[in-house]
Amino acid sequence: MADGDMPEPTLQNILDQRELKWIFVGGKGGVGKTTTSSSLAVALAERGGRDNVLIISTDPAHNLSDAFRQKFTKTPTLVNGFTNLFAMEVDPTPDLGDMEQLEWAQDSFLTELAGSIPGIDEAMSFAEVMKQVQTMDYSTIVFDTAPTGHTLRLLNFPTILEKGLSKLMALKGAMGGMMGQMTRMLGVGGEGGEDLPDQLLGKVEGMLDVVRKVSAQFKDPQLTTFVAVCIPEFLSLYETERLVQELAKFEIDVRNIVINQVIFPESVGGSRLLDARVRMQQKYLEQFYELYEDFHILKLPLLEEEVRGPDALRAFAANLIKV
Ligand SMILES: Nc1ncnc2c1ncn2[C@@H]1O[C@H](COP(=O)(O)OP(=O)(O)OP(=O)(O)O)[C@@H](O)[C@H]1O
Ligand SMILES: [Mg+2]
Repeated sequence: MADGDMPEPTLQNILDQRELKWIFVGGKGGVGKTTTSSSLAVALAERGGRDNVLIISTDPAHNLSDAFRQKFTKTPTLVNGFTNLFAMEVDPTPDLGDMEQLEWAQDSFLTELAGSIPGIDEAMSFAEVMKQVQTMDYSTIVFDTAPTGHTLRLLNFPTILEKGLSKLMALKGAMGGMMGQMTRMLGVGGEGGEDLPDQLLGKVEGMLDVVRKVSAQFKDPQLTTFVAVCIPEFLSLYETERLVQELAKFEIDVRNIVINQVIFPESVGGSRLLDARVRMQQKYLEQFYELYEDFHILKLPLLEEEVRGPDALRAFAANLIKV
């Protein structure tokens, strides 16, 4: 059965790929995204030879704080007990109060624009986070994402933004001088009406620039990869396939599949229930191996206890890599 060409069943390839900048960890609700992303971030920080690692939660339900047992905010905070691991929790669907703090939203014309293109408000706030994070000089950024549907939307943001902003640029081109009048009418800024359109244009161009850069990076497998997390059950298998297909559509690299909550035969200990679960899982595991033969497929054991706190995450991280 041993096949020398089969990708090894660990995430070691992620540690070894030093240029990797963006690592997305995603999958269905409750399968172990936060546990996997947190322990991967721990492994990267402690054994990955990175200067600085940042883990970001983009799930409105924020569970990094629970996983590490430490309160995080939207500013990167050093994780207790580490020298090079930081965490932050951002809200991908900011309410209006939050939006006003964003640089771009201080321009009421852009705020108007945001309202007119579906999804662009979320996209803008994501772009703002990316812009912020890019200037912060982290070697690797791990995303603990929200359940699948939301994640796919997030990965589509650069495209949405590019379309929306390009539309605005075209509009500006077509309307020429009228833009000045329009911005005045919308009450943007105050004095120096003539310069306003250019100012605005500059801002939009700046935004578009960040978005294009990020978008290009997301599509570069040297810089970005997606780790799909699932469990050995029918629905999860199905969902994983959908996810892998969608990622291909967005041209985002995915070559690691983490199958969490696996019950290994040696832990059955005479329990009929566990024995039945093992056999059920076995059936789906085989299908995973068949479908994803050129992927790194990593099985993670179902533990008796939740994985919470830095020590538990460190111990769990050992399952992800070659030790
Ligand atoms: N292999 C495991 N063994 C035991 N407990 C686990 C395991 N993996 C995860 N857990 C626990 O299961 C719960 C859910 O895991 P986790 O929070 O990582 O999932 P998630 O995919 O991020 O969930 P959500 O979709 O709600 O964000 C947590 O309490 C976690 O500690
Ligand atoms: Mg989670």
